[in-house]
Amino acid sequence: MPGVFQFSPDEVLKEATAAFAQGVPAVLLFGIPETKDAKASGAYASNGIVQRTVKLLKRELPELLVVTDVCLCEYMSHGHCGLINESHGQVDNDSSLKLLARTAASHAEAGADIIAPSDMMDGRVQAIRQKLDDSGFSEIPIMSYAAKFASSFYGPFREAAESTPKSGDRRGYQMEAGNAEEAMREVHLDIMEGADIIMVKPALAYLDIIYRVKNTFAYPTAAYHVSAEYSMIKAAAANGWIDERSVTMESHLAMRRAGADIIITYSAPQVARWLGEP
Ligand code: PBG
Ligand code: ZN
Repeated sequence: MPGVFQFSPDEVLKEATAAFAQGVPAVLLFGIPETKDAKASGAYASNGIVQRTVKLLKRELPELLVVTDVCLCEYMSHGHCGLINESHGQVDNDSSLKLLARTAASHAEAGADIIAPSDMMDGRVQAIRQKLDDSGFSEIPIMSYAAKFASSFYGPFREAAESTPKSGDRRGYQMEAGNAEEAMREVHLDIMEGADIIMVKPALAYLDIIYRVKNTFAYPTAAYHVSAEYSMIKAAAANGWIDERSVTMESHLAMRRAGADIIITYSAPQVARWLGEP
């Protein structure tokens, strides 16, 4: 991904400090462990890469809001977002919930301000809410990837985060691109299970979903401007085909217009710089 890199914890601190100074209020952390296995041990290790980075950020830069992505795919040898059941070779929804809840609690333990589950297993918001409450973190909010579509726009992220599934795809747990009603049901379920902020992902090809979700539920709504949306703008700009600044700003404006209260974007430092210019 152009301009996107894997960082060590101390490099994250440097990047986050610079971004915060420019007006970026929050970061969303994704971890890439040194070794992967079939139970995603690195996801919930108390000295895991995300846990160590959260601790460092909250110690050195306490005003920065630290959100952690909760998923298992980056930590799994097979690259799926849940446990694979040996007997049928499919992702096993219910046994994955325990590991996701454990991961969330370990992030909260490290000092995360918001927990953001992106796995799309059924019932995970409730499992995570319960575990956080039982662990003394009843005040930590959940931002759920509620309407997350099985999208080809995640390609550059999977390469950058080394989380491409080794076999099959994610359509067993992520949503069908053409099904808006399912998106509404998924958002409704996540709210009932205790989500505090709901997210629609990707953003630009799904502005209708953002609009419907915001209008129907009137909940804090986040839009995730994903890796290919970002990379396509970068590539076209690098070829001299579009004006990077105005296309980027127009894209972000469109997400706001559709109803997004929060925008998760790889362009955050750049957009903050542009917004700060006279
Ligand atoms: C993994 C995850 C993905 C993204 C965020 N978390 C990819 C996927 O579902 O394969 C996508 C981010 C992006 O494309 O920018 N749970
Ligand atoms: Zn995942």
